Amino acid sequence: MTISIKNICCIGAGYVGGPTMSVIAKKCPEIIVNVVDINIKRINKWNNNDFEKLPIYEPGLGEIVKECRDKNLFFSTELEKHIKSADMVFISVNTPTKRKGLGAGKASDLKWVETCARQVAKYAKGYTIVVEKSTLPVKTAEVIQNILNASQPLNNKEKKTFDVLSNPEFLAEGTAVKDLENPDRVLIGGESKYAINALSSIYEKWVPRTKILHTNIWSSELAKLTANAFLAQRISSINSISALCESTGADVREVSRAIGTDTRIGSKFLDSGPGFGGSCFKKDILNLVYLSNYFGLKEVANFWEEVVELNIWHQKRISRLIVSKLFGTVRGKKIGILGFSFKANTNDTRESSAISICKDLLEEGAFLNIHDPRVESKQIELDLNLKQHDFINSQRIYENNSEEGVWTFSDTIYGVFESADAVIILTEWHEYSLIKWKDVSSKMRKPSWIFDTRSVINPLKFKGTDLNLWRIGDGSLTN
Ligand code: NAD
Ligand code: UGA
Repeated sequence: MTISIKNICCIGAGYVGGPTMSVIAKKCPEIIVNVVDINIKRINKWNNNDFEKLPIYEPGLGEIVKECRDKNLFFSTELEKHIKSADMVFISVNTPTKRKGLGAGKASDLKWVETCARQVAKYAKGYTIVVEKSTLPVKTAEVIQNILNASQPLNNKEKKTFDVLSNPEFLAEGTAVKDLENPDRVLIGGESKYAINALSSIYEKWVPRTKILHTNIWSSELAKLTANAFLAQRISSINSISALCESTGADVREVSRAIGTDTRIGSKFLDSGPGFGGSCFKKDILNLVYLSNYFGLKEVANFWEEVVELNIWHQKRISRLIVSKLFGTVRGKKIGILGFSFKANTNDTRESSAISICKDLLEEGAFLNIHDPRVESKQIELDLNLKQHDFINSQRIYENNSEEGVWTFSDTIYGVFESADAVIILTEWHEYSLIKWKDVSSKMRKPSWIFDTRSVINPLKFKGTDLNLWRIGDGSLTN
């Protein structure tokens, strides 16, 4: 028998909870979807009437929120009320790496998940299906189930029952709506057929049944960590080869194309860049490393840890290379930064390679002028842990020969080229591929450098400028 779900509550209105629930609301107009969060500012932004100002930027998301909000999609802080009325509760809260104590630096901090489980235990009524949407270490479902089981009221009339399912999310930021509307697969792990069918029936409204995979709960939890580890491993692999290309005269784009045509390898996730960023790859691999060590599998742990180590080395390699091309010093030099988000089409900067590369250059005393079409300057201040310089006066900085690096925000792309010694492309925003290199060349101080870490520049269009070019993994550039 399949129960029909009428009322969903999702705890966590972030990069996963917001888009996922919006798409469910769109595809299932008969279901009431309440997204709740403790962060009132975030909720207010979800309720903003200017759909350009939602708290997260995702192509296509504004249209869906516009269509469904206040019909069957609601954003609020009323956790108790909406857990009480829900047949199904999704837990979609943050699971960052633990900073202190046992497993610090590797294990996931399950504080937020545990709090959610306690809230569900306290407020739920009757039978409730609890769905793990957050990425969680293997066996977390057991923790959630234990907390829920311990919540029975003494009064037997108000007996609560729960089933816990794992339903990890595979969306990528920047393509979240597309990924949710047309997923490669939907993974549901659990024991209760009844609960699995209830959750499947929601996805079946738009996802073919053959793409909905049912597994045991531990396989589902582990499959999510493994998927991210495999994807990140491909990026570290190709980034390691980019360094070799630069030393040997090969071109990493040609190498990627050549290996990607092998159907056993496939062409996706072979773009060399400034190193992978985003809130999940590093965190999820370190989680896998922690689990492997916990189970005494040192070699397995070391294998996966190397993927993260290579990523850190690769980011540092780029910073060092920039300084070295600029005669070994960037102190007081003006360097334009194009792109601060961890990839294009998102305003998310978590673990962005831009943070580590900019921090390295600031440490060396550079004057950075940063542009990003979606990231706000307030966010950059937080990420760099440095207030924006309030007065752009490059001359003064040259004269003072200041030891302190400074940064300022540029509202325009062309602004970053003004008297710059170098410009570094760190995010592959489409607008950067439209830059007219001959036009910007005259604005820069000579000799000037362009560092393209994202293969945004078409070298043919670059020809004829008096700019020096460095591209990731391009061994043909000898200057
Ligand atoms: P996020 O930080 O953007 O959002 C989490 C939200 O949960 C925050 O708004 C926070 O205020 C809220 N929250 C925390 N505790 C709460 C509580 N007790 N009650 C109510 N609200 C609470 O995180 P995210 O990027 O959406 O990621 C969520 C989970 O999904 C993580 O486990 C992550 O690994 C996983 N994931 C993320 C992505 C992605 O692209 N970002 C993709 C797949 C999976
Ligand atoms: C990634 C996965 O792709 C999703 O399936 C997963 O759900 C999600 O993590 C998660 O669990 O959070 P996301 O981090 O949003 O999604 O974005 P990706 O497209 O995977 O990019 C991650 C990083 O790798 C970015 O910095 C990107 O620029 C970089 N990347 C990606 C490359 O350097 N080269 C590539 O070929 C692909």
